[in-house]
Amino acid sequence: MSNVIIIGTQWGDEGKGKIVDLLTERADYVVRFQGGNNAGHTLVVSGKRFIFHLIPSGILHPGKKCMVGNGVVLDPAVLIGEIDRLAEAGIAVTPDKLMISLYTHIIMPYHRALDLAREKKKGKTAIGTTGRGIGPCYEDKVGRCGIRVHDLLDKEMFRRKLAATIEEKNFILERFYGEKPLDPAAIVDEYLAYGERLRPYTGNVSEVLQAADASGRNILFEGAQGTHLDIDHGTYPFVTSSNTVAGNACCGSGIGPTRIDKVVGVVKAYTTRVGGGPFPSELLDDTGEYIRKVGGEFGATTGRPRRCGWLDMAVVKSSVRLNGLAGLAITKLDVLTGILKLKISVSYNCRGKCIDSVPPELDALEACEPVLTELPGWEEDIGGMRSWDQLPRNTRNYLQAIEQYAGVPIYMVSVGAGRDETIILRNPFDA
Ligand code: GDP
Ligand code: IMO
Ligand code: MG
Repeated sequence: MSNVIIIGTQWGDEGKGKIVDLLTERADYVVRFQGGNNAGHTLVVSGKRFIFHLIPSGILHPGKKCMVGNGVVLDPAVLIGEIDRLAEAGIAVTPDKLMISLYTHIIMPYHRALDLAREKKKGKTAIGTTGRGIGPCYEDKVGRCGIRVHDLLDKEMFRRKLAATIEEKNFILERFYGEKPLDPAAIVDEYLAYGERLRPYTGNVSEVLQAADASGRNILFEGAQGTHLDIDHGTYPFVTSSNTVAGNACCGSGIGPTRIDKVVGVVKAYTTRVGGGPFPSELLDDTGEYIRKVGGEFGATTGRPRRCGWLDMAVVKSSVRLNGLAGLAITKLDVLTGILKLKISVSYNCRGKCIDSVPPELDALEACEPVLTELPGWEEDIGGMRSWDQLPRNTRNYLQAIEQYAGVPIYMVSVGAGRDETIILRNPFDA
C-alpha cells in the first residue's frame, strides 16, 4: 500500500498529466484535490491526444477509480463535456469510475463573468487568468457564500442559496464593471439540470478514500497548476487562487497527512509560464522562440503562447522545500536536443546578494537576475531511449546537475509525450 502525490514544481504545465497517467498503472484511485478547469493536462496514449481539465488523468486506465475532491472548484458544464467527449471516443465514464465530492464548490456563471470583468478593468496590470471563474469561486468558498455540489441536488436549497447571492453579484457586475446582469431563473434551470446529470457521480470522497487506504489500495493524488502559482507560497499576486502545494492534497480530498507516503515533483527540463508575473530566467530571444516551437509551448486551456526560459533551480529548490519532495520527474528533456550550449539558472543575484530560493516578495523577485551556468548539450535523438545508460553523456550530466542542485534524486525522465516515452529509474509506489 502506498499513497503518492504528484505536483508541479514550476508555474504549471510541467507534464503532470503524462506522469499521472503513467503512474496510474500502479494506483487504484486517482484524485484531483485543487484547482478547476484552469488546468489543462495532456495525455498521449497510443498516438491519441487527450486533454483533461477536470477529470483526473487516470481515467484512460480500465478498472481505476477517479475522484474529484472537495478542494476542486467545479464547472459542471465542463465536466459533463469531458464525460461526453470520452463517451464519443468509446470510453464510458460511469459512476463506478468517477466520483465527485458532495462538498466541491461549483463555479457559477457570475464567477466567470466577474473573473473576465476584473481582468478587463485591470488592463495592463491584469494577472492573465484563464478566465474560468477560479478566483471568484474560491472567494465565495472562503467568504462562506459558495454553492456546493450537494446544493445542486436539492432544488429548494439551490434556489435559496442563489437568491442570497445573485443580487450582490449582479450589483457588482452592472454598477461597478458596467457588464450585463445575469438572469437567476435561467441559472436555476441550467444548474439544476447539471445537478440531475451529475447526481449518480456524487459521494463522500473522504470516506471512500479512507476505506480504500484501510484496505491497502494505492492512491495517487494529481496536483494542478504548479508550486509557484500557490496562493500562499507562489509569486503573489501572479498566482492562482488555491494552494497548489502537496499539503493541500490532504485538505482538498479529506485524507490525513499521516496517510501520505511520497511526494514527487514534476520538473520540466526548462521553465515556462503562462500569464503575467516575474520570470527571472525568461528567454526573450531566438532560443526562447525555439523552445516554444519545438516544445509546442501553447496553453492547453487557453491556447496562449507560454513564456519560455532556462531551467531555474531556485524555483525547483524552493519546491523541494515547500512540498517535501522525495524525488523528481523530469519531463520534455527531448525538447532540449540540439541546443548545444544549455544554461541552468543556479541562483539569483538579488540587489547584490546571492540567493538560491525564490523570494516571496514580488519586488525582490522582480529584482532577481539569474546566475547562469553553462553545460554542453547533445544532438542525439533521445526520444527512443528507455534506460539511463542509453542516454548521451551530456544528457546524463545535465540530469546529474539537476539532482545536485535540487538535493533530491530523479525518479523518472520523460523523453516524449507518449506514455511509453519514459525512463523509469524508481517508481514512487515502490518502498
Ligand atoms: P500539465 O498541465 O502539467 O499536465 O502539462 P500540459 O499537458 O499542460 O503540458 C505538457 C505538454 O507537454 C503536453 O502537451 C504533453 O503532451 C507534453 N509532454 C509531456 N511530457 C513530454 C515529454 O517528455 N516530451 C515532449 N516533447 N512533450 C511532452
Ligand atoms: P496546469 O494544471 C499554467 C495561471 C494563469 C494565470 C494564473 C491565474 O495545466 O499546470 P487562474 O485562472 O487560475 O485564476 O489564473 O495562473 N494558471 C496556469 N498556468 N498551468 C495551469 O494549470 C494553470 N492554471 C492557472 O495563466 O497566470
Ligand atoms: Mg497544463
